[in-house]
Amino acid sequence: RPKMIIDCDPGHDDAVAIVTAAHFADVRGIVTVAGNAPLDRTTHNALVMRDLLELDTPVHSGAARPLIAPARDAGFVHGESGLDGAELPEPTTPLDSTDGVDFIIDTCRAEDDVWLVPMGPLTNIALALRQAPDLVDRVAGISLMGGGTFGNRTAAAEFNIWADPEAAAIVFGSQVRPLIMAGLDVTHQFQVTRDRIEQTRALPGRVASILADLFDFFSGTYLRRHDDGSIGGAALHDPLAVLAVTHPALFDREQRHVVVETKGEHTAGMTVIDGRALIERDTANCDVLTQVDHHAAFTLVLEAIEATA
Ligand code: BDR
Ligand code: CA
Repeated sequence: RPKMIIDCDPGHDDAVAIVTAAHFADVRGIVTVAGNAPLDRTTHNALVMRDLLELDTPVHSGAARPLIAPARDAGFVHGESGLDGAELPEPTTPLDSTDGVDFIIDTCRAEDDVWLVPMGPLTNIALALRQAPDLVDRVAGISLMGGGTFGNRTAAAEFNIWADPEAAAIVFGSQVRPLIMAGLDVTHQFQVTRDRIEQTRALPGRVASILADLFDFFSGTYLRRHDDGSIGGAALHDPLAVLAVTHPALFDREQRHVVVETKGEHTAGMTVIDGRALIERDTANCDVLTQVDHHAAFTLVLEAIEATA
């Protein structure tokens, strides 16, 4: 089981990613960041997930705002709480620290082969790499959810990159290899259809019924926002960053050079993916995921949910 630190902003799909990682990986810690909701909410939600899953995993909060960009959440996707749609208990276990960035640095210095798996704005990861450049050679790799050849927050930009473009530019510009990008091109192949919500609800246990409620809310948002029938339910983005590490055979990938647009009038937060065949071989910094076996991926998610019962 690969070791990983989950850096997240739960968030419906982040919550499912935590469930998935708890089953298939050795989660050394969960770090929170402001993103889908303000930091106090994403941290609260991470603590709730730890309790629900009865995990013995530390939760540390990290950055409360992006490096330079203003704080702008995604309440219109995940609701004001960040996890609207289900009856959730209050957390009963305390936060381990508010030094999430130090936790990332200390853990990666103390242990070999720890994957960083960010699924929110990249603020904490950028801060860790800036404060501790030795992490470049220490981590097993970075597998992140973000970017793509199209946008969701703007026409050009995916939310996680758009929310903190300078941090994303630092991460893509770092020498960390492998750097795996689960962008919208692949995550939009992985949708929580009505059928999949019913499959989730049919599983035993409290976590399954909570996740089915969360899926209902999350899919409702997507179906309203894509009223042209182009989508069958919410895209389940974040678990794919986990599965790219634990089940790499599910994916097709291309080695590309990827940079982040930080200044464009219409394109800030865009991942610019160089598709030129001759250039890519020498300069590729990123494994861009292009296809996922979404049936197999959802079967694994169901297996992880079932294991919580
Ligand atoms: C990403 O943005 C968030 O709303 C989701 O949790 C996911 O990480 C998708 O653009
Ligand atoms: Ca997220």
